[in-house]
Amino acid sequence: MKRLFVYCLMFLALFGLLGLTQCTKDKTPTPPEPCDPNKVYFQNDVLPIVSSGCTKSGCHDATSKVEGLNLSNYEGIMKIVKPGNPGNSEIMEVITDSDPNKRMPPAPAPALSQEQIDKISKWISQGALNNYCVADTGACATGTVSYSKDITVILTNCLLCHSGSSPSGGINLSTHAGVKVVGDNGKLYDAVSQNGKAQAMPPSGGKLESCDISKIKSWVDAGCPNN
Ligand code: HEC
Repeated sequence: MKRLFVYCLMFLALFGLLGLTQCTKDKTPTPPEPCDPNKVYFQNDVLPIVSSGCTKSGCHDATSKVEGLNLSNYEGIMKIVKPGNPGNSEIMEVITDSDPNKRMPPAPAPALSQEQIDKISKWISQGALNNYCVADTGACATGTVSYSKDITVILTNCLLCHSGSSPSGGINLSTHAGVKVVGDNGKLYDAVSQNGKAQAMPPSGGKLESCDISKIKSWVDAGCPNN
């Protein structure tokens, strides 16, 4: 009898554990992706709207949980969301209720804007994922260009010819002093921008990325610091 009880416990524990891993799996945020203007993201778009409107202290925040609802996180919000089906999602009903006292957030707080409502609806249609995105960092950061962190990395492929005891053209790009010579006399930028005022580098048709060329320009303009 006692043994049976132990088996029962083990059985329950095993299933409990399975259930738990299943749950955590569902809640796991999807990996960050580059922001797609046609998609609505939970972390970027939905959570800020819901938390500004619905999680004021005394409402559906983590401590008050009015009506058992904690709308300060994904799991809580999913209790009133049917993924893929905004029409059947309670959240859509309450944020669009025409009675200002039944509507969420209730009067005197203003209703969510149509744009915010549309965003939430679109997010639900798109599957109500716990997703988030990062803005495309394609912008080239030429603010403060560092010799050690940026320039040496950009010039790595030049060292094949421009280092050692007899560097090509007598130009040694493996030391700051060597790079500064062609930086100061303008040849470095002329060569990599391939503006025709110097031999185009790297030779044989290659060209550095435009961001790298801009970084070199910025560093040369700053006086080729050894930073
Ligand atoms: C395959 C070998 C090779 C590679 C790689 C190479 N260079 Fe050169 N580079 C040369 C040679 C050879 C010369 C000398 C050309 C001459 O004087 O006729 C030269 C000349 C130069 C000059 C002087 C140009 C002039 O007209 O006075 C600069 C500046 C320069 N290279 C920079 C670079 C930079 C920056 C890179 C990397 C982005 C690079 N090179 C990659 C072979 C190379």
